[in-house]
Amino acid sequence: MDYRTWGMFSRDQPPGPPGGDGTAPNLYGVHPYHMCVEDDGNAHSVLLLNSNAMDVTLQPEPALTYRTVGGVLDFYMFLGPSPEKVTQQYTQLIGRPFMPPYWALGFQLCRYGYNTLDRMKQIYDENRQYDIPQDIQYGDIDYMDRQIDFTIDQQNFQGMNDWVQSIRQNGTYYITILDPFISANETDYLPYTRGTDQDVWIKDGDNHDQIMFGKVWPYLPNITMDPNADWDTMIANYAAHTAFPDFLLNSTKQWWVDEIQAFYTDKLQFDGLWIDMNEPANFILGSVNGCSDNQWDQAPYKPRFYGAVLADKTICMNSIQGGTVHYNTHSLYGWSHSVPSQRAMRQATGKRSVIISRSTYPGSGVYAGHWLGDNTSKWPHLHTSIIGMFEFNLFGLPYVGADICGYFDDATPDMCQRWMQLGAFYPFSRNHNGKGYRRQDPAAWNGTIAAASRVVLLTRYRLLPYLYTLFHKAHSSGSTVVRPLMHEFISDKVTWTVDRQFLWGPALLISPVLEEGAHDVTAYVPKARWYDYYTGKEVVEAGRMVVWDCDMDCIPLHLRGGYVIPTQEPANTTVFSRRNSLGLLVALDAEGRAEGSLFWDDGDSIDTYENDQYRMLTFTIDQGVLSISVDHDTYSPTPELHFASIRVMGSEGIPDDVTVDGSKLGSSDIKTTDGVENMWYLEGLNLAMNERHTISWPVPMDPASGAVSPKSTQALIFALTSVIFLLFSTQ
Ligand code: NOJ
Repeated sequence: MDYRTWGMFSRDQPPGPPGGDGTAPNLYGVHPYHMCVEDDGNAHSVLLLNSNAMDVTLQPEPALTYRTVGGVLDFYMFLGPSPEKVTQQYTQLIGRPFMPPYWALGFQLCRYGYNTLDRMKQIYDENRQYDIPQDIQYGDIDYMDRQIDFTIDQQNFQGMNDWVQSIRQNGTYYITILDPFISANETDYLPYTRGTDQDVWIKDGDNHDQIMFGKVWPYLPNITMDPNADWDTMIANYAAHTAFPDFLLNSTKQWWVDEIQAFYTDKLQFDGLWIDMNEPANFILGSVNGCSDNQWDQAPYKPRFYGAVLADKTICMNSIQGGTVHYNTHSLYGWSHSVPSQRAMRQATGKRSVIISRSTYPGSGVYAGHWLGDNTSKWPHLHTSIIGMFEFNLFGLPYVGADICGYFDDATPDMCQRWMQLGAFYPFSRNHNGKGYRRQDPAAWNGTIAAASRVVLLTRYRLLPYLYTLFHKAHSSGSTVVRPLMHEFISDKVTWTVDRQFLWGPALLISPVLEEGAHDVTAYVPKARWYDYYTGKEVVEAGRMVVWDCDMDCIPLHLRGGYVIPTQEPANTTVFSRRNSLGLLVALDAEGRAEGSLFWDDGDSIDTYENDQYRMLTFTIDQGVLSISVDHDTYSPTPELHFASIRVMGSEGIPDDVTVDGSKLGSSDIKTTDGVENMWYLEGLNLAMNERHTISWPVPMDPASGAVSPKSTQALIFALTSVIFLLFSTQ
């Protein structure tokens, strides 16, 4: 609030070193939106729905000043009063986040610069040899012929589609990249000729009949490149003229859908789409002719952000897009690109599919998720990725994560191991690397790092039913998935400053190691009952800062009392894990209560919730009675799934017997762990997921007061019921 100015204009601008030079660079996306928490803990938020370049200055009054260089002044205020309510209200306006397919919650592997299919295969195979859970393999622009969309390099990636189809049997899905730049220098290149016939391009601002050409990825045909040429020479000598689709036009949307469909049908059957560089980026200033001296490119005020002029790294502001000047629509480009991309993928695959987009705007979350862009393999970037996740959850884009192990520069083994631990808890969990940097996939290092990655990814996979249910809640009611602690503990001001730990929903606390050489974590334990995820041991230091020992294999995870978390036995891909048995982690609060839910559907059909093809279970536990109920049942997995294990944490002592659906289990069935009090578990159960179940155990009297503790009420009810039953049966 110290007169800091935030510029907003979408830009091909990677997140720089945290702190940097003290300015706040504009990044890939634009969200003129903030949430404010007042001193009394009441939250509200404000959206200025305006797509022009702007800056916002924060002042200590507290106050903020918006300076936008055009457009309308539509302000929306969301009154909360809790941060979660604010987010729900905001997404009600801008659109609720899309529901990702289940497989999109699996681990994903990518890099720029596999360069050949053989290399991609080799790295994929090596990760399988180390048993690394992986649901998705990516291809970056190097699979293309001269970086031209809708082509496959026939020299280095011949046989690509056969391979992509072959890895399906392992349960691996494939996501491909497409950039929004179409080469104009090819002969018989149908995406360009059809696009021109259908008039889909952004037009030159000085001559509205002409296409506006920039230069981005595609290379010219028939060139011999000097391998030592520097970047500017490469662009000047080898880059093709590229046309920019105007995705605000219906004709362009249809063209994009058709081109993707044709590519899918003829060349590559892929499952998801990665749309990149859609700020839109441009490797030259403005256009192949520069920008003229016009009122838009020479606007009297340039808001404070990266670049000397508005057209820096992008196209001229007077270009014609969506019936107006690009000056007005620039920051909408990524959003407008996402809309037909989702439509195209759903049409081509007939499935839900998934889109990730680099540039975003309010409403993008309906169509796409987001990765945080070209970060760097530097320790502070682990920390800032958590802040990035918080932000995009507030923006209605909960499907978010950073490039695990960093994009620019070489990662180090320790950094990558710690980043794999953190990244295993990114909703969008992808290890991605820039061209020419040291290999950093889990199998790249040594057996120890591969094994540690496998362990933490298996933990993720075990927790996926919970994560998927959180995504359902985000999709149906707009809540966040990754959550700052203050969203749950707003009355505790210590939580307002915590940005090195995060929550999955209300119940799972993640406290990663973020510093080089650290073998412990300094963490805040919010005021609640918490249990160590791994051991079930209760944490005694609630409401305090703690230091937890944490060797290289460790990432502290804690379960919050009051919640039931559904789990599933993991496997190396979700195709297989989805067939495994389910489990419940029951973390009791101080009153002996907990609740939770589980959303389940086929995992990749379109709109299963809207089309009523899902199952919803709720779990409640009160005073020693755990009820599993099926609240909605219009989808049945085949074969049917079963709950096999239940772990109860925070129980008052260990019960002598537990009744499962009327059958009593004796003490030999009730498992415990030495040294962990008040935790017990059942294994080998076979409780069908489509049926109601009751699991109960006697809870003791409260010895301190001599009174019947709340937990004993259940026992009392049980006893009374038994008496009544006896009375009736003796009549
Ligand atoms: C920029 C993207 O941010 C990066 O992730 C990608 O690898 C390169 N473009 C190449 O496509």
